[in-house]
Amino acid sequence: MSSFEYPGEYYEVIRKDFRDVAGETEFLASYLPPGGRVLDIGSGTGTNLRALAALGHSGVGVDQSSDFTAYARAAAPAGPADGVVEYVHGRAEEYVTDQRFDLVYSLFSTLNQLDRAGLRQLLTGVRGWLAPGGHLVIDIGHLLNFVDGYQPNIIAHHQGDDLLVTRLARQSVHAHRAVWRNEETIIARDGAGKVSMFANFFDQTVFTAPEVRDLLADTGFEVVAEYGGFRKEPGPRIGRGPLLFVARAAGAVQEVAA
Ligand SMILES: C[S@@+](CC[C@H](N)C(=O)[O-])C[C@H]1O[C@@H](n2cnc3c(N)ncnc32)[C@H](O)[C@@H]1O
Repeated sequence: MSSFEYPGEYYEVIRKDFRDVAGETEFLASYLPPGGRVLDIGSGTGTNLRALAALGHSGVGVDQSSDFTAYARAAAPAGPADGVVEYVHGRAEEYVTDQRFDLVYSLFSTLNQLDRAGLRQLLTGVRGWLAPGGHLVIDIGHLLNFVDGYQPNIIAHHQGDDLLVTRLARQSVHAHRAVWRNEETIIARDGAGKVSMFANFFDQTVFTAPEVRDLLADTGFEVVAEYGGFRKEPGPRIGRGPLLFVARAAGAVQEVAA
């Protein structure tokens, strides 16, 4: 369960302190042909899709947050060489399409916000949406991210242009469900001194890397690479850090080999 209902511009200010968009873009683009088609699962404010559209790629973003989807739609690039992106508001597990994509990806631990059954359902669908030779990239939080990063209370300031965003966060764990609960108060002060405040909330399923590998195999994927970061650092790393899986459709690989 998650909310993420607050202005997308505030999220963008927070996100930049956690992520390397240039590295993410280069990584994703390395799995795309010119003018490729992408599907971003949990596209948030559209950060990654905007960067890929600026390289001429087109596609679809799906996200359950109405605020973030509205921000993404409004911020879509409109240059003549930019790709066209459609933003769909809804839960990824319920998304259906007859489109085919060269790359389906999900970044920033979004898939941890699905429960185990929901993730299995989603991956089963994604397996059928890959174009021939297409790839799946998932960036998932793993057990050690949670253990290593655990802090019961967090106060963090994120500075943007003329905007200060403060997060007051509380983390707790439901041990029996292996679910990590995040409760946040987002306080923003703009350049005119106006202060606004929002509540944000999300649960994250605590996956382990072997569990994700098994799930990918069960849903018809073959893992072709694992990295510890978007600069293609070797992985999996010890301790904290992203766990990146690159997979392709297992059946399609056999067809090519035959
Ligand atoms: C941490 S943000 C990451 C957003 C984006 N991938 C990025 O890298 O900035 C997690 C996003 O997942 C979305 N989300 C959570 N559960 C979802 C679901 N079941 N279906 C679609 N979107 C979901 C939230 O609305 C939020 O925008």
